[in-house]
Amino acid sequence: MGNSAQERSLPYVPDCYVVPPSCEPRDVLNSNSEIVPTIDISRLRSGDVERREVIQELSLACQQFGFFQMVNHGINQSILDGALVVAKAFFELPAKEKMKFMSNDVYAPVRYSTSLKDGLDKIQFWRIFLKHYAHPLDRWIHLWPQNPPQYREKMGKFCEEIRKLSLEIMGAITESLGLGKDYLSSRMDENGMQVMAVNCYPPCPEPATALGLPPHSDYSCITILLQNLAGLEILHSTDHSGAGHWVLVPEVKGVLKVHIGDHVEVLSNGLYKSVVHKASLNEEKTRISLASLHSLGMDEKMSVPNQLVNDENPPRYRESSFNDFLDFLVKSDISQGDRFIDTLRIKD
Ligand code: OGA
Ligand code: NI
Repeated sequence: MGNSAQERSLPYVPDCYVVPPSCEPRDVLNSNSEIVPTIDISRLRSGDVERREVIQELSLACQQFGFFQMVNHGINQSILDGALVVAKAFFELPAKEKMKFMSNDVYAPVRYSTSLKDGLDKIQFWRIFLKHYAHPLDRWIHLWPQNPPQYREKMGKFCEEIRKLSLEIMGAITESLGLGKDYLSSRMDENGMQVMAVNCYPPCPEPATALGLPPHSDYSCITILLQNLAGLEILHSTDHSGAGHWVLVPEVKGVLKVHIGDHVEVLSNGLYKSVVHKASLNEEKTRISLASLHSLGMDEKMSVPNQLVNDENPPRYRESSFNDFLDFLVKSDISQGDRFIDTLRIKD
């Protein structure tokens, strides 16, 4: 950390970055032509009939992909661009400035690091990141970088807007499950966590041998992602064994992506799938992605709702909190395919 190949722009990829086939889910094919679901969010705000239609589309996307793209979400392009600009400028600062935030403590509310968890990962990933808590904003913003000078203002504005949108989407998700749109709203609104993963993937001299992030799913309820270039790939599973194919999500300006995370898979008792995704690399350009992870409070347990279980449909997952995820992260190796959601499954 602080001295990694990607931070130093090495002209070759050291062996410790080469991703072995064991890192890939089994029987996975590449296919880049598939259409990923795209939802016109403004229609959630139209009349009841339109809202019901959109909620149907959303439900289908969550079942089939665990992923969708949002258009007409209502966040101004200048707010999206502003956040990408300050993120890029942060990573362009001299090393000394970034080192102030360096930490491999996964519990730290603000930290700069490299690879997946830290510079000590067994396999290294070609990624540099800054993670920081973002809600409530006034509790955390004073810990964020002061350089570049507009970082707090621009990133703060982005985080606030994305958070409002996340609450709206969570309302639509709980409504689609028959739980009503306010099923989680007070728990998400008051103590809910928002963690920003500000990711930078510098150009990689051999993009086919390394990865920016290995296949994983997010521990959040939902993650909202903005990127400046294509590179996010999602696994479209076709059966429960993990077989499927990778779909490269195209980049269209202004479009926001939504990942269903492990906690919505729990909330839906397995009807909605937390999407497995990875970040691939680019030979020429620096890719920036802003992933905003939304979940319940640090120690609040997500469990399968009583309304969704009966004798034929028993709960399929144990309850867990964000903090339980962090404990898992310390002990496990995501690059070897360890998944939090697998630790929650109740075997039948
Ligand atoms: C993440 C993530 C993907 C990307 O930060 O959890 O999956 O494209 N990022 O950077
Ligand atoms: Ni992710």
